[in-house]
Amino acid sequence: MLNFDFYNPTHIVFGKDRLGELDRFVPANAKVLVSYGGGSVKKYGVLDKVKASLGEREIYEFGGIEPNPKYKTLIKAVEVVRKNQINFLLAVGGGSVMDGTKFIAAAAPYEGEASNLIKSGLTQIKTALPLGTVVTLPATGSEMNNGCVISYEDGKFPLFSELIFPRFSILDPTLTYTLPQDQVANGIIDAFIHTVEQYVTFPVEGRFQDRTAEGILQTLIEVGKKTIDNPNDYDARANLVWCATMALNGLIGAGVPQDWSTHIIGHELTAMFGIDHGKTLAILQPSIWNVRKKQKHAKLLQYAERVWNITDGDEVSRIDLGISKTRGFFESLGIKTHLADYNVTADMIDDIIKALEKHGKRALSETRDLTLAVCRQILEGAM
Ligand code: NZQ
Ligand code: ZN
Repeated sequence: MLNFDFYNPTHIVFGKDRLGELDRFVPANAKVLVSYGGGSVKKYGVLDKVKASLGEREIYEFGGIEPNPKYKTLIKAVEVVRKNQINFLLAVGGGSVMDGTKFIAAAAPYEGEASNLIKSGLTQIKTALPLGTVVTLPATGSEMNNGCVISYEDGKFPLFSELIFPRFSILDPTLTYTLPQDQVANGIIDAFIHTVEQYVTFPVEGRFQDRTAEGILQTLIEVGKKTIDNPNDYDARANLVWCATMALNGLIGAGVPQDWSTHIIGHELTAMFGIDHGKTLAILQPSIWNVRKKQKHAKLLQYAERVWNITDGDEVSRIDLGISKTRGFFESLGIKTHLADYNVTADMIDDIIKALEKHGKRALSETRDLTLAVCRQILEGAM
């Protein structure tokens, strides 16, 4: 097992009807900015419940944080925070709202030019405003991690700082019942890929991490289709919500190699073509594994056996079956897994490679040997 630090200070408040407990977690004298997205939380009554729970506190609202949140939107919220001396942020929404709010928390007290925070990561921040979240979409794990992904100019940039962990996150699975089917599917796939990117690498005797990753994957396979077919099945939804959080809160990635190639290439597909985050991952993962079968041989074999119970046939055919079962799983959720399904054609691959190059992504994967030439093979394989 590799050396590691594990730090996670987020208080999780999980279960039905927990919104009313916001009062316990937000300081009584706080001036609160409640941030949200394009309006789903208004439409389905979540915002009203949040405001009721905040009682007499001075509340400001900032709506309109779009999917794949944009720097230029968030900077407007930073102005609202500074002008009104807001001292607590409450994100109500999915990954985009949570991520956007984390960026606002870092940028509001920052005295330099806020766009520097994108270019150099959040490494130079010394403080951030405290924030909490109310999760309406299980997917990203943003509710319990130190990351946020911000769209800036022609790219999407992952930023990290221990200062942006939420103080608390309310995870009421019933708040996610109103999600459209394809957003639930996106979320299942996002959590699945977060897990495999910390698991299908090379073996380091991280037995707890491996078994936990396999448990998350098997749970997602068990509840995925069920929660799409029966959106109000509480137990299925609760398991999805908890898996999504646990897939990216640092636990399964501690002490093991990590391969974020799927995400990094996927961010370019979102930035260039507007394809949802989860869908980019479903398109790329089968092709990445096909191209990287040799490097990942041992873990792909373990994945096929322990996650999909594939034990017959030679090793290569077991791996191939594991990959095709994975694609089949994504498609069973209603998500298409080829670039051509999203109107991306082979002649556009050059531009995707150029974007990766521009953003400095020349050496990806757990072994840093996934070059732009290999990216091209992966994209060709994903057509
Ligand atoms: O904007 P509203 O109107 O709220 O609608 C949203 C949005 O259109 C809707 N939605 C959310 N909750 C709903 C709902 N609709 C009905 N009922 C509800 N309960 O869903 C749409 C998508 O929301 P979004 O927040 O964009 O989705 P998701 O949670 O998948 O977040 C994606 C973003 O997170 C980043 C992605 O790159 C992307 O920008 N990620 C963040 C990570 C992190 N912080 O650790 C890691 C991930 O890998 C990911 O990169
Ligand atoms: Zn993701």
